[in-house]
Amino acid sequence: MSKPVTAGTFLRSLNHSTMRQLSDFMDPQESWKKVLADVHKPTGELRYTQLHLRRFEGLVAMGKSPTIELLRDWSTTNCTVGDLVDILLRHHLLAPASLLLPDINGMEPAAQPGVPVQETVTMSTQETVAMSTQETVAISRTERAEEFPLPDSSTEPMEEEGPDDTGFYRFSFEKLMKMTGNFDEQPVSEGGQRLGEGGFGVVYKGCFNGKQVAVKKLTSMDDISPEELKIQFNQEIQTLKVLKHENLVEMVGFSLDAEHPCLVYHFMSNGSLLDRLACLGGSLPLSWSRRCAIAVGTAKGLEYLHLNHHVHRDIKSGNILLDAALTAKISDFGLTRASAKRSLSTVMTEKVVGTMAYMAREALRGEITPKSDIFSFGVVLLEVLSGLPPVDENRDPQLLMEMKDEIEDEVMMLEEFVDEKMGDWRQLAVEKMFSLAKDCLNERRGRRPDIRQVLSQLEEVLTVSSLSS
Ligand SMILES: Nc1ncnc2c1ncn2[C@@H]1O[C@H](COP(=O)(O)OP(=O)(O)OP(=O)(O)O)[C@@H](O)[C@H]1O
Ligand SMILES: [Mg+2]
Repeated sequence: MSKPVTAGTFLRSLNHSTMRQLSDFMDPQESWKKVLADVHKPTGELRYTQLHLRRFEGLVAMGKSPTIELLRDWSTTNCTVGDLVDILLRHHLLAPASLLLPDINGMEPAAQPGVPVQETVTMSTQETVAMSTQETVAISRTERAEEFPLPDSSTEPMEEEGPDDTGFYRFSFEKLMKMTGNFDEQPVSEGGQRLGEGGFGVVYKGCFNGKQVAVKKLTSMDDISPEELKIQFNQEIQTLKVLKHENLVEMVGFSLDAEHPCLVYHFMSNGSLLDRLACLGGSLPLSWSRRCAIAVGTAKGLEYLHLNHHVHRDIKSGNILLDAALTAKISDFGLTRASAKRSLSTVMTEKVVGTMAYMAREALRGEITPKSDIFSFGVVLLEVLSGLPPVDENRDPQLLMEMKDEIEDEVMMLEEFVDEKMGDWRQLAVEKMFSLAKDCLNERRGRRPDIRQVLSQLEEVLTVSSLSS
């Protein structure tokens, strides 16, 4: 008879049938990715990189189980069932955890050094920029949900008639239904109301007080309970009340009285930078000078966030929205904190890969620092220069960030990389922007510029562009 499995059992001692059962739980929803992103070397470094992730992903096409192969690889390091169960619990993967240790119900996941289970935004003194005491108080309050009693929808009156003292409207879900044609699922391009879908839910176009708005109906995903979502949502509102800037999308209001909390934003009629670079729906290509202005606007928004001790965590061209005048507006700067777990991994492959295409190594391990935003911004700069998507499975290399290396290694010329759809680009300016992107994408975060340095280098790009045109 085989020995019972305990927390101290070496992973390599698990029999094949247990491995198979684990893979049955973890292959279909790709939760093995959560484990992969949480395995550390004894030095504290991540054991697996994005390259490893892609290799494991590739195994599916060969009929192999990425879960089994991952566990086999990791088990060569003397790790134990307890190590694996800790990771599984941290990511609320209870089914595979209790398959291994049936008595774990109710056990707390062990905190991992350097990766708090309850995430908070941290910035080192070096990385933050001085701000007034008053501002510090205002923002740091938003870090702790317990300081804000949750609005009790059953007792609080709706305030649809006018905004509250912070300028936000509190809508009823019913009102939002009216505003969005019952959350009409037909895409806007086909005459409906649906603008798109992201990691937190679906966004609909609506009309309020004669103005167009975007209504984001949040849905709790597998890894966030509805209660948790509401708490985080409340934090989002508190954050948005304080953070206001020309280059941040403005919130109009919210609703909290139904199963789906909703956020209502100003409508950005030119959609996202991602879509405009791809000329989705036949939109005209953005000119070089317009792209420069968008890069500067985004950097200004990010500077404001960093000045206010706020790390965005999901900087990507899909979260840079463009208003009627094509002014860049960063969106989702509060929401990304609503799912700490999502930043490590998520159930939807396409979205994980989409998000991972922007993530610095330390961000993949769950470390939150303004320098990971800088890394992601580096990817956005590559998109601006090339007009290429951040990830493309029919391209070699698939990740845009890896194309930077090809240019550095002179496998590809910068001129070939530059988007031929824009006619007004200037060699020197393009070189400067590429060099800035390279600096932002430095693997070592200490060597990346801070947002102020990014801005001043972008101003130089502008100067060079205007001098040479
Ligand atoms: N305020 C807005 N005005 C106009 N369109 C918007 C607005 N907010 C979001 N959208 C559109 O709705 C779609 C979905 O946005 P959403 O933020 O939910 O997803 P995402 O940005 O792709 O991913 P993530 O969840 O990581 O932010 C996007 O295509 C975006 O262009
Ligand atoms: Mg978004």
